[in-house]
Amino acid sequence: MAQAWFATGPGGIAEWEFREVEAPAPVAGEITIRVHAAGMNPADVKHSARPGAEFPVPLGYEVSGEIAAIGPDTVIGSGAASVGDEVVAFRVTGGYTTELTIPADKAFAKPSTLTHPEAANLLLAGATAAELLERSGAQRGDTVLFHAASGAVGVSFLQQAAVRGIRVVGTAGARNLDTVRRYGGVAIEYGDGLVERARDAAAGAPFVAALDGVGTDEAIASSLELVEDRARIITIVRADLVEAEGIVMIGGMKKASAVFRDGVRADLVDLAARGRLEVPVARTYPMTEAKAAADLLMSGHPGGKLALLP
Ligand SMILES: NC(=O)c1ccc[n+]([C@@H]2O[C@H](COP(=O)([O-])OP(=O)(O)OC[C@H]3O[C@@H](n4cnc5c(N)ncnc54)[C@H](OP(=O)(O)O)[C@@H]3O)[C@@H](O)[C@H]2O)c1
Repeated sequence: MAQAWFATGPGGIAEWEFREVEAPAPVAGEITIRVHAAGMNPADVKHSARPGAEFPVPLGYEVSGEIAAIGPDTVIGSGAASVGDEVVAFRVTGGYTTELTIPADKAFAKPSTLTHPEAANLLLAGATAAELLERSGAQRGDTVLFHAASGAVGVSFLQQAAVRGIRVVGTAGARNLDTVRRYGGVAIEYGDGLVERARDAAAGAPFVAALDGVGTDEAIASSLELVEDRARIITIVRADLVEAEGIVMIGGMKKASAVFRDGVRADLVDLAARGRLEVPVARTYPMTEAKAAADLLMSGHPGGKLALLP
């Protein structure tokens, strides 16, 4: 039997339970993955408590592991594969588990450059960052502003922007300015005086877009002040402001975003395999300690990615 975490009621992390489950044998077009690490994202917690959720809700959208079984005549997203091959998979349902059976096209050969905890956290943040970059319309030499550049989405964005020659002024807390610099951004602290610091950091260049990875009033207000074209102010947090402010919200639950994000998985895996995309992991936890891990995840300052290890 496998074991997996579920949200069993609307009360958030307190109502999560680790239950025995069956990972069915894979049919054609499916594989079973023995999980070595489950990636963690704030969406795991947010989605399990959203209005209308039908309990129990399986938790977790991405994993890294090895193929335990493969259906007949089945290839994975990156091509031919065999039992024992190491893979990374996104977007899965119920990734906080020891073993799961999934459509094979969601799995890709794991880049050997990444550990399992890193690989398990590559694709959700990476695909979100890729969509932000695309929707920003930024071209080589342009300057963009990224709020919460020290976060998981921010760090991936910084690296993907650097590959394309796009300059990023990125905000972070005082302790994490070096993280922004390490991944190629011009670091500024969030808080009072943000607009002036951003203008100074841009050194006369206009901000062609502002990308919001935190959703604070400060992030939104400063974006509105610094970027004229509201179609190029894009948030991944504040859906409530789309109508009032005319800014753009993107999210993996929206059809167009899901299609775009599915389409960039192979490129992100390739970028990581070439050593151009790192995934800094702050901490791993035993799978049984998912609740404690989720508390740190939702603190707003996890300091890097978190992973659950069966
Ligand atoms: N819509 C989507 O498709 C989508 C996809 C992925 C994520 N998200 C959402 O995007 C957000 C970020 O996700 P993540 O995985 O990158 O989170 P994360 O790794 O937990 O990072 C959180 C970030 O927020 C920053 N932060 C905390 N308080 C701040 C403040 N007052 N002002 C500015 N920045 C502040 C932190 O900076 P310091 O630690 O340096 O202080 C850190 O950079 C979450 O709300 C998540 O649910 C949405």
